Amino acid sequence: MKVGIIGSGDVGRRLGQGFAAQGHDVKLGTRDPTKKEVQEWLKKTPGTVSVGRFSDAAAHGEVVLVCTLGAAAEAAIGLAGEKNFDGKVVIDVTNPLDISKGMPPGLFVGTTDSLGERVQRRLPKARVVKCFNIVGNPTMIAPRMKEGVPTMIIAGNDPAAKRKVGEILVAFGWEDTVDIGGIDGARWLEALTALWVRVAMNVGTWTPAFRVLRS
Ligand SMILES: NC(=O)c1ccc[n+]([C@@H]2O[C@H](COP(=O)([O-])OP(=O)(O)OC[C@H]3O[C@@H](n4cnc5c(N)ncnc54)[C@H](OP(=O)(O)O)[C@@H]3O)[C@@H](O)[C@H]2O)c1
Repeated sequence: MKVGIIGSGDVGRRLGQGFAAQGHDVKLGTRDPTKKEVQEWLKKTPGTVSVGRFSDAAAHGEVVLVCTLGAAAEAAIGLAGEKNFDGKVVIDVTNPLDISKGMPPGLFVGTTDSLGERVQRRLPKARVVKCFNIVGNPTMIAPRMKEGVPTMIIAGNDPAAKRKVGEILVAFGWEDTVDIGGIDGARWLEALTALWVRVAMNVGTWTPAFRVLRS
């Protein structure tokens, strides 16, 4: 599968490694392909990997991931070119974290709207699935932890797109996925991240994760 990643931060690079390790053809998108971290990622990541601008990555992917700073997500999609996302499964990993008042963060959108919904509105012909935003990037691939495998919670309007994301999750080692319905569920997945940070600050690890326990 061809995978396009919009965003070259810790998340984009980590997910890019994960997809490449599964044998997918990954293009990492950035505004500056000469950036040191990106060039290092290119050198050290085994598999079929390349780097380009946001528009190259979006055009390349059959599946496209949005992994930019939350406040820049819509601008990055504009740079990537909306048409490049048409008909595609788009995985939105962003969080609307607001650290203008310091830590722990607030959210710059929430409860009546979300970044997931904004991304879907911006890309009406794409099939957006909110996924991966509720864990730290080291946990996104092979999420086996000391106390077991956490739960990934996803949301999106298109059932087939969510099935595709479910297959990706299984390949990455996620044993338990909960689908909470339409993309409006992103409001609560994004809010969960604000809670995640507060939990992380109080349990002595920067990579905690949540698991759904059923009675
Ligand atoms: N870090 C985590 O563990 C984690 C976990 C879950 C979810 N998330 C969410 O995932 C997203 C990515 O996080 P991150 O930690 O990898 O890095 P980040 O610093 O939040 O974002 C880096 C990316 O944002 C792009 N960007 C920044 N300002 C921009 C602007 N004005 N216009 C266009 N693009 C801009 C950068 O572009 P260039 O490539 O051009 O520099 C880079 O690709 C965030 O929304 C974050 O909240 C993070």
